[in-house]
Amino acid sequence: MLAASDFSKRDQALTPSPTLAVSKKAKEMAAAGVDVINLGMGEPDFQTPAAINQAAIAAIEADQTSFYTPVGGILPLRQAIADRASSYSLAPIQAKQVTVTTGAKLSLYVLMQALLDPGDVIVTAKPYWVSYAEQAALAGADFRAITPNNAAMKLTVADLEAMETPVKVLLLNNPTNPTGQVYSAAEISALLDWAKDHDTFVILDEIYGHLVYNGHTFTSGLSLQELTDSRLIIVDGVSKSYSMTGWRLGWTIADESVIAAMNKLLSHMTSNPTAVSQYAALAAVSGDQQVVADMRRQLEDRLNRTYDRLTKIPGLSVAVKPAGAFYLFFQVAPAVLAALGLDSSQAFASRLLEEAHVALPAGEGFGMPGYLRLSYAKDQAVIDAALDRIETFLAPASAAGQQ
Ligand SMILES: Cc1ncc(COP(=O)(O)O)c(C=O)c1O
Repeated sequence: MLAASDFSKRDQALTPSPTLAVSKKAKEMAAAGVDVINLGMGEPDFQTPAAINQAAIAAIEADQTSFYTPVGGILPLRQAIADRASSYSLAPIQAKQVTVTTGAKLSLYVLMQALLDPGDVIVTAKPYWVSYAEQAALAGADFRAITPNNAAMKLTVADLEAMETPVKVLLLNNPTNPTGQVYSAAEISALLDWAKDHDTFVILDEIYGHLVYNGHTFTSGLSLQELTDSRLIIVDGVSKSYSMTGWRLGWTIADESVIAAMNKLLSHMTSNPTAVSQYAALAAVSGDQQVVADMRRQLEDRLNRTYDRLTKIPGLSVAVKPAGAFYLFFQVAPAVLAALGLDSSQAFASRLLEEAHVALPAGEGFGMPGYLRLSYAKDQAVIDAALDRIETFLAPASAAGQQ
């Protein structure tokens, strides 16, 4: 075993993704024969739709997948992404305003490398998706996560006005992981206007854009501001809405100068996203969208059932019911933590996994201790069984906490 100091300072400073870490532990326990329920991963449990799989198989059989593709992806895929975005954007989107990457995660990483110098300020809302902080750190940037002053924890212009330093990049996730909140058109528009006035880049991570529920609507930044010569950047992908996490396929839509800067980096990193995944994504984006509607409807049902049940468990609470994505970010009452003799939600998550065999990532990785995140993108019977276990685990502590 080599020492940590054998590796770069950059590597030593990095924390492994807590959502992947909790799932790894759960898988190890399952392999050892423990009946673990893992609601830690941010991925739907549906199979990739058959038509998408078939398109990938057809591309292999037609020998379209043996060779490198252009760095930013094959033209038909970039064109399909641009055409789809044009159906709701203010001005038509062109293929040259799109680059395809190995997952939306890589789009975000490369954007931070392309936009941020050491010390530059990047701002986001707390709680935030776990990789934002570490990717910003890898760029040497000054990552500032603001706790918004409202129950839905949505960033507002007032939060940005309170910043004392210039903001190079504003990073927003809409709908939001982990809270499931959705920004309205007016809320996004106000933030975009502020950014424009301050020459601030806005990265809008819209990976959950197709997954909104109970009559809520999603507004893409593309329908509010033109892209050409602008600092607005959209990140999206097929992982969540088409249940394609394993294919690793995402993209960025931005002014062509941003795309060129990204492609320069990508040319030295991946050369191109995996060819077969690009053909699968082409089928997803340009095919029948009923598959997305069907999965969305099932997720909506799971949200409603899981929210109703979880918020009835004494000691657990959700500030505002989610409207999108597929997570419940819930608080564990401090009195319950104290009754369990625990001093953090991280310690709570460990005990829950060891004793109740339910895997959930703790709020610490999302910048908000005291909370846990539950993904409801699982079969309802599995979610219900997990909630039974959580309720039983908590019962003595909740009773003690109420005294
Ligand atoms: C907010 C957010 N952005 C981006 C991603 C990355 O998605 P992909 O699978 O396309 O890399 C995730 C995945 O969990 C996410 O939750």
